[in-house]
Amino acid sequence: TTVEWEAESYDMGGHDTYMHKEISEQADAVDRVLRGRIDDRFSTVRLGGLNLDAREARAVRRVKILGCGTSYHAGLIGAGLIESLARVPADSEPASEFRYRNPVVDPDTLYIAVSQSGETYDVLAAVQELKRKGARVLGVVNVVGSAIARETDGGVYVHAGPEVCVVSTKCFTNTVVAFALLALHLGRTRDLSVADGKRIIEGLRRLPAQISEILEREDEIERLAHEYADARSMMFIGRVRGYPVALEASLKLKEISYIHAEAYPASELKHGPLALIEPAMPTVAVVPDDDLLEKNRAALEEIKARSGRILAVAHREQEKADHTIVVPRNEVELDPILMGIPLQLLAYHTALALGRDIDKPRNLAKSVTVE
Ligand code: G6P
Repeated sequence: TTVEWEAESYDMGGHDTYMHKEISEQADAVDRVLRGRIDDRFSTVRLGGLNLDAREARAVRRVKILGCGTSYHAGLIGAGLIESLARVPADSEPASEFRYRNPVVDPDTLYIAVSQSGETYDVLAAVQELKRKGARVLGVVNVVGSAIARETDGGVYVHAGPEVCVVSTKCFTNTVVAFALLALHLGRTRDLSVADGKRIIEGLRRLPAQISEILEREDEIERLAHEYADARSMMFIGRVRGYPVALEASLKLKEISYIHAEAYPASELKHGPLALIEPAMPTVAVVPDDDLLEKNRAALEEIKARSGRILAVAHREQEKADHTIVVPRNEVELDPILMGIPLQLLAYHTALALGRDIDKPRNLAKSVTVE
């Protein structure tokens, strides 16, 4: 069984689809997840529902994030944020797999369940298994009072508002921002300096306006979608922070357009997937201006040498790419938040060009409450 939204009860607000409405709402949604949580005096954030005092926060030796689908991808970016800001080893894995490998449950690990609906069976069952073994489990959840929100010991609400489209967009973005808040909080109880705390807070505050700036370029992204909509298969690449962005963008494309897509770390291309590159297999490359820029450019050259078409999402025009969608810069840690947004629009306009049922893609449900 699946949870059906009473879609008719939410106003489409002049948009043709809920997905378009939800993509368009992201500046306000991010504003909501930040609201009331920033503490400028100590350059940190206050998370009322976390239920983890400073001593407990400092005792955390490892973070394990569990989620499914898009929430798992948000968890991958969250793990990167926690590692870079709090310097605590962190990773994310599909909740559906975790339970079945008889995981080592360690008392010094903080477990975090991520879910938009708060009702996904695989995530709930993982939480219950962890709790049975005495672990501390927090939730990063959108729906207030949902099963996962109730089962966890505390957590951070994502405040994205209702999401009706089966595929997640605004909730993904807000979940990543919620992880940035959590990472900042953990960081400031440990070794993150006041100056770095302030730098991240200022970066977070810039996000809503920068999201609006990206959304204003929708016409350009729509034109690009038309150029690539004839592809039978697409490659998505990125490195380190860019890789989960590539994973999520490829999932979004396959979910709603039914175009086959693969996501790989750009560094892995030469270990196999490069064999697929040819003119009929375009690549979407996530290329932030970070310390991996030159490495990413080398990957683009490899693709060009095999006559692959390239669409880059970058902070400045990429010479090797056929097209570049330029996104505004923020702090490097927050790059994944902004770089994912044009790729939501790319998936959307590709699916629209192909005449797909965007809000209700075939074979998928908004919330999977059975195993
Ligand atoms: C379903 C949806 C996905 C979603 C996943 C996890 O498979 O089709 O879009 O990412 O569930 O949902 P959750 O509500 O737990 O985030």
